[in-house]
Amino acid sequence: MKVPFVDLEAQYRQLQNEIQETIQVVLQKGHFIGGEVITNFEKKFAQYIGSQYCIACANGTDALEIALEALGITRGDEVLIPALSWISTASAVSRLGAAPVFVDVDAYFTLDVTKLEEKITPKTKAIIPVHLYGQPVDMPQLMAIAQQYQLKVIEDCAQAHGAHIRGKKVGTWGDIATFSFYPTKNLGAYGDAGAILTNHPEMAETIRRLGNLGQLTKHDHTLIGRNSRLDVLQAAILNVKMRHLDQWIEKRIQHAKQYNTLLQKGHVQVPLTRHEDYSHVFHLYVVRSEQRDRLKHYLHERGIQTAIHYPTALPFLPCYKFYHYQPQDFPNAYQFSKEILSLPIFTSLTFEQIHYITHCIACFEG
Ligand SMILES: Cc1ncc(COP(=O)(O)O)c(C=O)c1O
Repeated sequence: MKVPFVDLEAQYRQLQNEIQETIQVVLQKGHFIGGEVITNFEKKFAQYIGSQYCIACANGTDALEIALEALGITRGDEVLIPALSWISTASAVSRLGAAPVFVDVDAYFTLDVTKLEEKITPKTKAIIPVHLYGQPVDMPQLMAIAQQYQLKVIEDCAQAHGAHIRGKKVGTWGDIATFSFYPTKNLGAYGDAGAILTNHPEMAETIRRLGNLGQLTKHDHTLIGRNSRLDVLQAAILNVKMRHLDQWIEKRIQHAKQYNTLLQKGHVQVPLTRHEDYSHVFHLYVVRSEQRDRLKHYLHERGIQTAIHYPTALPFLPCYKFYHYQPQDFPNAYQFSKEILSLPIFTSLTFEQIHYITHCIACFEG
């Protein structure tokens, strides 16, 4: 049996008529930048998350950079980020001339909020919690610390559309939230796409200007911005896909439950989930194995595609070599990067496929 890591073709087959129809309408209207389709998407996504303002942009990396810029983060500032994430969380800080200050992750793979305070200095301006793999960070605790030290909070929600804590969605806890709609995300476009959400009206205006060459209306360039607009085709596709998001999340949660049950006797540690008040939307289903590389190869030989998110923790990437960090500085992130393996989890994954994957893992000698 062959199991791909993701199956976007199957998702397309499910939506084919709706998608083709919406693309046709955009092409026929010949309007590709700005306008009603974008506004519709922004309204619907803001509503879905529970935020007042949504500003669509070109991708999740730009979203982070624009959010930091809108908060006035600049050279000399420090921003606390988890040691395990996709590069964008760190590079967005570095590209503004500020310093990413890495904080180790906890057993849930997310920023360890108990380790935040020891990293705070007079230069610290903000925290970027990342709801990694789809599981919310301990936001109540993080927000209490942020308030105490007057730090701004940007939630990196690139992997956690729809996740919530006691019904309050991630993206509504901090000052600004950033999202990615990279094709493989739980809500993915057919190319790059992103969004920035906030409840602050002035911040929303600054963000909108920063992503659209400093203008709100044509030629009204009040600040130096960039071109990071979402295009109409992507917004139209996202409008269709958004209608299916909750149902897709439910499927992912079911798949994760099946994996958890079937992997109980295996050689891998299943992902730990927080208290039941914390919903996990399983963008990724990440197990741990001391024999990770051999297991990955073993599964590959049996037709099962897996991935590693991420093989090198942020402080140890070549671009941050100049900090000279040692494994003991971030023991969890370092250890996890050697042990984590992402198993296939996509909406059309079947029980037979999950059964096959878990059977192969159980047969793995280690
Ligand atoms: C945690 C995290 N942050 C930021 C990004 C950046 O998003 P994009 O790829 O849309 O630039 C991603 C996307 O992979 C991500 O997973």
